[in-house]
Amino acid sequence: MSLFGEEYTADPHPALAELREAGPVHRVTSAAGVPFWMVTRWDEARQVLTDPSLSKRQPVDQLPASLRPALATQMLLRDPPDHTRLRRLVSAAFTPRRTRELTPAIERITDRLLDELGAAPEPDLIAGFAVPLPFEVICELLGVPPRERAPLRAWSDTIIVGGPAPADMVAAMSGMVTYFGDLLARKRADPEDDLLGALLTMADEGDRLSGDELVGMALLLLIAGHETTANLIGNAVHLLCRMPARPDRPTAAVVEEVLRMASPAATSTYRVTTRPLTLGTVTIPAGEQVLVSLLAANRDPERFTDPDTFDPDRGDGGHLAFGHGIHFCLGAPLARLEAGIALDRLFARHPDLEAAVPPEDLRWRSGLLMHGLAALPVRLGRPPA
Ligand code: HEM
Repeated sequence: MSLFGEEYTADPHPALAELREAGPVHRVTSAAGVPFWMVTRWDEARQVLTDPSLSKRQPVDQLPASLRPALATQMLLRDPPDHTRLRRLVSAAFTPRRTRELTPAIERITDRLLDELGAAPEPDLIAGFAVPLPFEVICELLGVPPRERAPLRAWSDTIIVGGPAPADMVAAMSGMVTYFGDLLARKRADPEDDLLGALLTMADEGDRLSGDELVGMALLLLIAGHETTANLIGNAVHLLCRMPARPDRPTAAVVEEVLRMASPAATSTYRVTTRPLTLGTVTIPAGEQVLVSLLAANRDPERFTDPDTFDPDRGDGGHLAFGHGIHFCLGAPLARLEAGIALDRLFARHPDLEAAVPPEDLRWRSGLLMHGLAALPVRLGRPPA
């Protein structure tokens, strides 16, 4: 089975299981003809995610000069010591407390979206709930005023899904870079108690984020902060709808098992080798691109007993859905909080919720990097008495 067709996006696991059985790492050529290596086993996945000889740097010279400074400074594309410095600065502002304090906002946004969802006979749970919820939450966190959010949504979708033409991607990035430059200037003049405000005012032993670094960080948080979380919520509802009965387990445990079984970030784990790298019996030369398939690693039978069985009681925390090592997802606590609130409130309001189309008719988002539904029509059922 090809890794790039509709059959793969609809159900990547048969193809990944075949690859994983054949070996820990495979040379693949993308649909655009770009060769890369894909890691499919859990041990080697951890090895790649922690090996300091692998670099995250990606060339940005194909982008217009006006975009390069902000995009090149994003910490997801940096190695130590630059990465260490950026991560320390943002972690000082994006604290567990700031995440916890978002709880009332997440609940309010969830309830509003559920009110709106209930108005349609067979609403699309992705467009009406899974996507707008984390988007609104990340905007609250960053401090993007509600009336300015719509274009950011459209640009973010274009960057992740790809527009009709390559120029659309550049236009979307330009739009975001210009918007956040302007928003940060306004916040500098009139400081507010949000994450961007905190990043602007914070001084860490005299070190601060530069203007370009701030724009790069805002962009990274906005995109990383909602596309994957939307996939998590959608994948969770999809899996739960396919079960004969909803698991009688704490939502947090259900969310962890969804993260393992239907890893939303799929293979969003770009690395490049800077020297020959041996994985099992395969040696990858220097200068080659490597992607870890989190989807494949998280169902490796050498690591997880009955990996294709949904078992919220595993409780071993060994999945790699948020990555591993120094680039481990900065927003994991927020993603878990949002998914927990979303599922609790959705099923409390609609305990009989069911998918309105059979699984084989569902549309999935295309591309190898993400694993999530493009649409999930549902019947909400009668509300509880
Ligand atoms: C990094 C997954 C939600 C911000 C990562 C990585 C993964 C990941 C796999 C590591 C990539 C690599 O090693 O190459 C996810 C998933 C999410 C999620 C599955 C939701 C279910 C979020 C949220 C935020 C966020 C809500 C922000 C509010 C980031 C950032 C990084 C990152 C800033 C880069 C960290 C670094 O380079 O040090 N995420 N993420 N993510 N994520 Fe998430």
